[in-house]
Amino acid sequence: MVPSFHLQALLALAAVTGHAAAAPPHAARSSSPTCNTVQFDFPAGTNKGDPRAEAVKQAYVREWNQYWKYAYPKDDLLPITHNGTNDLFGWGASVVDGIDTAVVMGLTDIVEEQLKHIAAIDFTKSEYLVNFFDVNIRYLAGLLSAYDLIKSGDFPNPYDDDLVEALLSQAKSLATAISPVFDTDTGLPVAQLNFSTQQLVRSTTSVNGVTYNSTNTAQAGTLILEYYRLSDLTGDESFRENAKKAEKYLINPSPAPAFPGLVGTELDTDSGKFITFDGGWEAGVDSFIEYLIKTYVYDRDDSFAGDLKDFWLTTAESSAKNIALSPYKNPQLTFLSQLDSNGSIMWTMDDYACFAGGNLLLGGKYLDRPDITELGIKTSDSCHWLYNHTLTGLGPSSIGWYNASNKPYDSTYNNGTYRAQAAKNGGYFIEDPSYSSYPEPLESIFYAYRVTGDKRWQDYNWEIFKALDTKRSRSVPYAEITDVNAPGGGKLSNYVASFYFAEVLKYLYLTFTEPDVVSLDKYVFNTECHPMTIKKTC
Ligand SMILES: *[C@@H]1O[C@H](CO)[C@@H](O)[C@H](O)[C@H]1NC(C)=O
Ligand SMILES: *[C@@H]1O[C@H](CO)[C@@H](O)[C@H](O)[C@H]1NC(C)=O
Ligand SMILES: *[C@@H]1O[C@H](CO)[C@@H](O)[C@H](O)[C@H]1NC(C)=O
Ligand SMILES: *[C@@H]1O[C@H](CO)[C@@H](O)[C@H](O)[C@H]1NC(C)=O
Ligand SMILES: *[C@@H]1O[C@H](CO)[C@@H](O)[C@H](O)[C@H]1NC(C)=O
Ligand SMILES: *[C@@H]1O[C@H](CO)[C@@H](O)[C@H](O)[C@H]1NC(C)=O
Ligand SMILES: *[C@@H]1O[C@H](CO)[C@@H](O)[C@H](O)[C@H]1NC(C)=O
Repeated sequence: MVPSFHLQALLALAAVTGHAAAAPPHAARSSSPTCNTVQFDFPAGTNKGDPRAEAVKQAYVREWNQYWKYAYPKDDLLPITHNGTNDLFGWGASVVDGIDTAVVMGLTDIVEEQLKHIAAIDFTKSEYLVNFFDVNIRYLAGLLSAYDLIKSGDFPNPYDDDLVEALLSQAKSLATAISPVFDTDTGLPVAQLNFSTQQLVRSTTSVNGVTYNSTNTAQAGTLILEYYRLSDLTGDESFRENAKKAEKYLINPSPAPAFPGLVGTELDTDSGKFITFDGGWEAGVDSFIEYLIKTYVYDRDDSFAGDLKDFWLTTAESSAKNIALSPYKNPQLTFLSQLDSNGSIMWTMDDYACFAGGNLLLGGKYLDRPDITELGIKTSDSCHWLYNHTLTGLGPSSIGWYNASNKPYDSTYNNGTYRAQAAKNGGYFIEDPSYSSYPEPLESIFYAYRVTGDKRWQDYNWEIFKALDTKRSRSVPYAEITDVNAPGGGKLSNYVASFYFAEVLKYLYLTFTEPDVVSLDKYVFNTECHPMTIKKTC
């Protein structure tokens, strides 16, 4: 969900060697558009009146009221100082990111205020540097999702038609305003745009002493789902075309990645070539992989979406073969390792990679690949384990583990503290103990429940919901924490991200409410948990 800019420092030190790995064998696959429904066949009445859904809804209302009172119309709530901050370009990010959750929960009074705010935004102006990735996943998808859900007939719609139509016209206005980012030699989008001057603000990456204009894989590969939907809703094909052009570099990687389908995080926007080999499912790559299968689920008749699905299969199979690994003497755990900038296995994983379980379950079920579904269950269970084995019941930002030879990637990880943690936990140690309202494990647990129907997954998400709410002051609900293993979570951070409304509370609510509410067979979710109507259902 978040591309990793902190990797830049690491990359600056790195040098890149050539790789002789074979190209992914995706050309040989069948593109026959068959599919399977994704959701378990739940009996009628499942989850009717479950009080856990109501508790999550009340959490939304409580947090929204705090945002409204202290932070509106700023982007995000600062819950300790009781004010707000414009860290997402000043358009009221929590409103746009959070509206579809309120639609799903049937909070019509709140939605009405949100719709009024949205219709009045001027998306052509911002005094901030505007980041393309954040615009797509939070604002653009938030608008499209609210539009789709309200128009679906699945939820109450007492709203003014003009305000509902404004969701779509604002989406088009925003996507048009940000479109100068595609103006590079290759068509790979640059990271940021100065909205006042229309100047592109390029990122650079230095590898082996050479500096490249660069973009990261998640940045360039996390628009195709939104842009397909926007083109289908507006009839303007330019959005789809821009997204496809960027995506072509990602699914035809040059040079070849260290392992098939596991591309690195950085590309040269001047040549379209990959400049690092640090693949995996972590930040910087994550939602690129996620959208490969989701775009196919959205429109399996589209031949380019078929190419994306083929690449996803290569990625999933290669992950199973090369990077799905268990810590030393702990076969009950399966983590997906990241690779370093040279493409070597690191035996480390960040929380962002915990979305993989849900994505593998979705694709495995849709494509009838029980082996992939099984890997999805294993990785979801392992991410839950990370949460279940801390003092707070919340999970760490990143972990590392001792490999099959009982060795870590970095010899400095071989110290007493880490060894003691590993002996207690299951062969892994906590690299970064902070927790930043991560939605990814909640997301995978939600998918595991909707795909298998097994109630244990609901219990897991309920435990995490309760952990979010404990030992903190009433005036600071759900602040982020600095240490998942310290009493009370260590220090509180003065921040509530807009994705708390968009993702954390939506995945939780949908875990406990009736399973036909936002069914995975009717909607496909963007990386920020914004559901969009599937063009061709299975
Ligand atoms: C990658 O390989 C180069 C050349 O062998 C080496 O100098 C560099 O330290 C390696 N980078 C990492 C992260 O291991
Ligand atoms: C929020 O309030 C705190 C304490 O009053 C203040 O220091 C800070 O500058 C305020 N932040 C913003 C973004 O206004
Ligand atoms: C946009 O560019 C103008 C002109 O160079 C500059 O004055 C302004 O500070 C830039 N805006 C931001 C947010 O960087
Ligand atoms: C980056 O792009 C700019 C604008 O096209 C160009 O002037 C510059 O030389 C490029 N930098 C590198 C390192 O290629
Ligand atoms: C771990 O899971 C068990 C069984 O579901 C539960 O009873 C316990 O409260 C969980 N512990 C934490 C810290 O979440
Ligand atoms: C474990 O890591 C060590 C140190 O990086 C490496 O030399 C060894 O080959 C690895 N073992 C396995 C089984 O991957
Ligand atoms: C163990 O290693 C980690 C990573 O290098 C380091 O942050 C930590 O301080 C070390 N702990 C001890 C007790 O040496």
